[in-house]
Amino acid sequence: MTPGTPDFAFTFIEPGHALYAGELELRFRVLREPLGYTRADVAFPFEADSLHLVAHRAGTVLGCVLFNPEDAHGGRLFQMAVAAHLQGQGLGARLVRTLEAELVRRGFNHVHLHARAPAVPFYERLGYSVFGEPYTEVGIPHRNMHKTLGA
Ligand SMILES: CC(C)(COP(=O)(O)OP(=O)(O)OC[C@H]1O[C@@H](n2cnc3c(N)ncnc32)[C@H](O)[C@@H]1OP(=O)(O)O)[C@@H](O)C(=O)NCCC(=O)NCCS
Repeated sequence: MTPGTPDFAFTFIEPGHALYAGELELRFRVLREPLGYTRADVAFPFEADSLHLVAHRAGTVLGCVLFNPEDAHGGRLFQMAVAAHLQGQGLGARLVRTLEAELVRRGFNHVHLHARAPAVPFYERLGYSVFGEPYTEVGIPHRNMHKTLGA
C-alpha cells in the first residue's frame, strides 16, 4: 500500500446491502462487459444463497469474490474480480484468503471453482489444484480447480 493511501475494508454482504449495486457493477465491468455480455447477464440463480465478500474504499467496491455453499462441507468460489487499475497488487489474494478464513470458521473444508485459463496461476499461488479436462465457459477456456482448506 502506498503510504497515506487508506487500505480497503473487507465486508461480507447480502443482496440488498448498500454495497451490492457496486458489487454488481464491478462484476459487470471486470467479468462480463469485456466478453460482450450485458448487465442482465451478471446475476447467478444462486445469488441470494451465496456469500458475497467485497473489498471497498470510500463506498466504492473495488474487489469481490463469491461462494455458493453446495453441501455442509464445501461449495463453489465464483465471480472473483478486482478493478482493472488495482490488479496485480495483492487485492485478489487478500480476498481469497479472507473468504477462506470465513469458510473455515463456518465449518467448510472444500472449495472448487471454474478458473479462466489466464487466472489459473493466480489460484495455484493460493494453493488450488487443477483437475479434469479443459473446457469452454462464457466463450473462453476454463479449468476446474479445487482446494482442501486447512490441508
Ligand atoms: C484474477 C484476479 C482476480 C487476480 O487478482 P489480483 O489482485 O490481480 O491478483 P494478486 O495481485 O492478488 O496476485 C496474487 C498472486 O498471483 C499472481 N498472479 C495473479 N495473476 C496472475 C497471472 N495471470 N499469471 C501469473 N500469476 C498471477 C501474482 O503475481 C501474485 O503472486 P505473488 O504471490 O508471488 O505476489 C484479477 O487479476 C482479475 O480480476 N482479473 C480479471 C477477472 C478474472 O479473470 N477473474 C477470475 C475469473 S476465474
